[in-house]
Amino acid sequence: MAGDVPGRYVYALGVRSLNRLYDPLFRLTMPEGAFRRQLLEQARLAPGVRILDIGCGTGTLLLEAFRSQPIAVLCGIDGDSSILELASNKIARVGADVRLVAGLANDLPFRSGWFDHVFSTLMLHHLTHAEKIATLSEAYRVLRSGGELHIADWGRPHTKSMRIASVMLGSFERSDRIADNLEGWLPELCIDAGFTDVHPTRRFSTMFGTLELIAAAKPERIAA
Ligand SMILES: C[S@@+](CC[C@H](N)C(=O)[O-])C[C@H]1O[C@@H](n2cnc3c(N)ncnc32)[C@H](O)[C@@H]1O
Repeated sequence: MAGDVPGRYVYALGVRSLNRLYDPLFRLTMPEGAFRRQLLEQARLAPGVRILDIGCGTGTLLLEAFRSQPIAVLCGIDGDSSILELASNKIARVGADVRLVAGLANDLPFRSGWFDHVFSTLMLHHLTHAEKIATLSEAYRVLRSGGELHIADWGRPHTKSMRIASVMLGSFERSDRIADNLEGWLPELCIDAGFTDVHPTRRFSTMFGTLELIAAAKPERIAA
C-alpha cells in the first residue's frame, strides 16, 4: 500500500489503528467548520472546476467542496488506504462523485496542468523537508497556469499563547518534519516551487498552536 513505509510514513493520528477516531477528535479539538469554510471561500470556486486535495484523509474538505458548488472533478489522494476507506464510506453516504486515489504526495499520479485548484490541509507537517519541496513542486506541476494552491497547516506561532500551545505540538509531532512549519518556512517553500502571490490569508488560534491558511498561484503563461 502506498503509505506503508515503516518509520517514514506518518498516519493521520500517528498510528493507523487510530484512524477511526480522527473525525470525532478533530471536531472536538479544532475549529474545523470555520477553517475549512474559510479555505474554500478564499478559493472562490467557480462551477465546473477541477479540484485535488492532497492528503485528503477522511475526505471532509472534499465533501464541503461538493456541497458548495457543482464541481466537475473532485479528487483526493492519500498514502493511507485505510483512511481512504473511511473517506469512501463517508462520501458514499452523501452520494458525492469523488475520485479517491492511494498514492504519495511527492509523486502525484496526475497529468500536468489538469487541476484548477489544489488543496492541502494539515498534511505538509507530516513530511520531511525534502518531501515538502517535492510535494509543492508536484502541486505546481498538476495545476494549470493561473491555478491556485490553498494550504491550511501549522504555522509560526503568532501570539504568546500560541507559542506556549505549540510547545505541546512540537513534543508530539516529529520534530524533523514540523520544524519547517513552526519556523514559518511554508510560504518560502511555495515561492521556491515557483508559486507567486504567496500570502497567509488567515491565522486561527487553536489548542495546539497557530493554524495558518496560505494562498498561492501558479503564474499565467506569458504569450511569446
Ligand atoms: C492530519 S491528516 C489530515 C487529513 C485531512 N487533510 C484533514 O484536513 O482532515 C494528514 C493526512 O495526510 C496523509 N499523508 C501523510 N503523509 C502523506 C504522504 N506522503 N502522501 C500522501 N498522504 C500523506 C495521512 O495519511 C493523513 O490522512
